Amino acid sequence: MSSRTVTKPGELVLVLDFGAQYGQLIARRIRECHVYCEIVPYNTPTREILARSPKGIVFSGGPSSVYDDGAPSCDPALFESGIPILGICYGMQLMAKVLGGEVRGGAQREYGKTELTVLDLGDLFEGLNPRLIAWMSHGDRVERVPAGFAETARTSSALAAMSDRTRRLFGVQFHPEVVHTPWGIEVFRNFLYKQCGCSEIWTTGSVVTGSIRAIQEQVGSGKVVCALSGGVDSAVTAGLVHRAVGEQLTCIFMDHGFLRKNEAHQVVQTFGENFRVNLVHVQAQERFLKRLRGVIDPEEKRQIIGDEYAHVLEEEARKLGAVQFLAQGTLYPDVIESGTRQAARIKTHHNVGGLPESLKLELVEPVRYLFKDEVRRVGEELGLPDEIVWRHPFPGPGLAIRVLGEISPERLETLREADAIVIDEIMAAGLYRRLFQCFAVLSPMKSVGVMGDQRTYGSTLILRAVTSDDAMTADWAQLPYEVLASISTRIINEVSGVNRVVYDISSKPPATIEWE
Ligand code: XMP
Repeated sequence: MSSRTVTKPGELVLVLDFGAQYGQLIARRIRECHVYCEIVPYNTPTREILARSPKGIVFSGGPSSVYDDGAPSCDPALFESGIPILGICYGMQLMAKVLGGEVRGGAQREYGKTELTVLDLGDLFEGLNPRLIAWMSHGDRVERVPAGFAETARTSSALAAMSDRTRRLFGVQFHPEVVHTPWGIEVFRNFLYKQCGCSEIWTTGSVVTGSIRAIQEQVGSGKVVCALSGGVDSAVTAGLVHRAVGEQLTCIFMDHGFLRKNEAHQVVQTFGENFRVNLVHVQAQERFLKRLRGVIDPEEKRQIIGDEYAHVLEEEARKLGAVQFLAQGTLYPDVIESGTRQAARIKTHHNVGGLPESLKLELVEPVRYLFKDEVRRVGEELGLPDEIVWRHPFPGPGLAIRVLGEISPERLETLREADAIVIDEIMAAGLYRRLFQCFAVLSPMKSVGVMGDQRTYGSTLILRAVTSDDAMTADWAQLPYEVLASISTRIINEVSGVNRVVYDISSKPPATIEWE
């Protein structure tokens, strides 16, 4: 399958990734300056880079030392291309080394917030204070700048910035992209607007109009199918395709029986009634339950659900007749990560919404170059309701992987009610947007309790709330006691069969966010 839908404005900045911990952050900061940028591997051939005519290039940081065997390097020809370049951390050290300066292993590492003194309030530091606090994270340092460069900032122990104004080459040892360097965005602005000559044309409005045009060009008069999950990525994808080709789009929304309370209603109302999208609402609860009877192994559950989902979707897509395109909400972080990270398979994260290759559909991926926060802004621009735009991530297999042990309609209902209370209380406390996810998990454990004068023997409900940026790591959220109390009281009073609520205080790693 191939994908051709792109939303690229005329001006581009490229970030060369040298293995940075903060590579995606650099791209996000640049886009916050309303300049479109993409991340490419450091070894992308120079002719490919030049063919894209970037207005500027940023070298990211990276974990290596420039003198390590096999350390990532760059083509010196880039420095002769006339394109302004900003090197960050490793990027600056590499620039220094390749251009004839000197880099040394630091006897004294700099890590964390560090004071720096600006020696020249020109170029990158224009409009800033001469004394600043910046975030550092390096062992090596530039000891001598290359010919043509001037030192523009120092800390008490190392060079912090250098520039060659004639060739418009700049290096900073600190990390302007992280929140701990709050004025870092000014460094990017100075680089982008004053050195690269970029203008602020990457806006939500331009993304929407650009995507619509690209979808129309790709799809022509063809038919498109889109699997809606209820989440923001597929909703925004469907919204854009609908704006672009209207009636040619059919959305398939499958109720596999593991949705949250009111979720199906919300999707049907938003897409079917408000947007008047062609919507097929598949009721497949029975089929899924039947296949999952007696299954308690988490991986087996995931496999069965992914498999059944693909089956049902294929059947529905075939019923639609001559469909040529599949709209899919692939996000930019997935594109960057795919193929680059060799992660062990901890869980099968089914890409629910995918259709089998046998259908031979061409992909339409209008949010392929967007980060999550950008997708949300597009969702707002399209007029999607807040409940969809700001919804927490929700796993494709849904409540099925939060009912630990065997799944039954009764146990699903217990969890669904408890989950609704959790969301309700978190929203009432004004905490929803501050959390990455919050939800309930139904454990297979029963315990003795007392209600009125009666002995009970009921289920234990686990409450999980986490903060996170990208789901790769997560911290358990330090919810206020009164919020924990109201959630627990309401669940025990209102959800029959539950007599105990416990709070999960494990971070990821070593735990994961979901329990299965
Ligand atoms: P874990 O449990 O691995 O979850 O820490 C990381 C993030 O992924 C979500 N998740 C899924 N998302 N399909 C999805 O689309 C899945 O099968 C799936 N399983 C977990 C999880 O909710 C968290 O945000």
